Amino acid sequence: MKGILLHGGFGTRLRPLTHSGPKQLIKVAGRPVSEWCLLDLRDSGIKDVAIVLGELAPTRVIEYYGDGSRLEINITYVYQGYPYGLAHALYVCREYVRDEPFVMYLGDNILTNGISSYVKEFLSSDADAMVLLTKVEDPRRFGVAKFDERGRLVGLVEKPKEPPSNYALVGVYFFRPPYIFKVIERLRPSWRGELEITDAIQKLLESGFKVSYAFVEGWWKDTGTPEDILEVNRLLLDVKYSKQVVLGKVESGAKVEGRVYVSKDARILDGSIVRGPAYIGAGAVMGPGTYVGPYTSVGDNAELIGVEVENSVVMDGVVLEGRGIRIVDSLVGAGASVRISDSIPTGSKLIVGEQARLWLRGGA
Ligand code: DAU
Repeated sequence: MKGILLHGGFGTRLRPLTHSGPKQLIKVAGRPVSEWCLLDLRDSGIKDVAIVLGELAPTRVIEYYGDGSRLEINITYVYQGYPYGLAHALYVCREYVRDEPFVMYLGDNILTNGISSYVKEFLSSDADAMVLLTKVEDPRRFGVAKFDERGRLVGLVEKPKEPPSNYALVGVYFFRPPYIFKVIERLRPSWRGELEITDAIQKLLESGFKVSYAFVEGWWKDTGTPEDILEVNRLLLDVKYSKQVVLGKVESGAKVEGRVYVSKDARILDGSIVRGPAYIGAGAVMGPGTYVGPYTSVGDNAELIGVEVENSVVMDGVVLEGRGIRIVDSLVGAGASVRISDSIPTGSKLIVGEQARLWLRGGA
């Protein structure tokens, strides 16, 4: 079985974090969102994966993943360019998959229980396609399943104003070629101007092909907004880091409490406290006198000096400096710096893009 990981799109709702690169490369709990997807594919036995690239800094994706050997997978890159829709992104991979069954994984989706069981289920079935569904409160943001009175899947609708059920399509789809590609060839763009994978699967259903479904156990999230990123960060810190691991250095006057991952070459300096669940990246420096509170991820080579940070994602190379700075519920983009200044009101909530610089008042 082959994998297709979608890495295109514009990531509009995550600007400015996505001005300089795709949203799937945003690191949460120590890894880009799409790396968690790749690990999921690998751990389900899928070693050959095509990454579909968009227009937004595709070379950054290639530089980060290379040929995939670091993750023990074989990566092929397929260029989609402009995001004409999920079905289009899949269609550009037709030469790559040829006649093998495959799974298409949206690179901004996180499933905490992984996809192994669904891979097995699909491979042991004779279905032409299989979709994953989960119950959501507001299905209008998603593709939504329609069932008949006997519980059979009879339709799929993309972002309906009046949802036919509360079951949303999760961003992981299984297919057996070749019919899916033939159906895509005949698709017309939807009201939002995209070739929808939802419409393609609907056409498979209408043409009598076998489309099965499974309900997702456990937690699922697509990371479209800053709030989603913080939620995914909390969840990954909870499920992926079950104990304290200290590879870096903790000075004698510093404290590391609970489930904290301190990467290699990171340093927790005198008078600092890191309270888990938390992740401290390679080469990062905490302190002196810094407090890193629960549900915080700090990127590689970041420096947090005398500040308090909680429930936040602080990305690679960030500098936060100054006693009295307290940052909560925030995303701080790579290379940004926030330092004490003297005319800012108390309490700051920040969603700061790469290379941004902020000066905050002492005691804020
Ligand atoms: O997350 C689940 C939902 O994903 C499903 O319930 C919907 O049925 C499905 O259409 C999709 O909806 P979104 O509106 O969330 O899709 P989005 O445009 O955010 O794209 C999903 C991912 O695919 C994202 O990582 C960007 C990438 N992408 C998107 C498009 C449109 C591409 O690589 N190429 C594209 O052309």
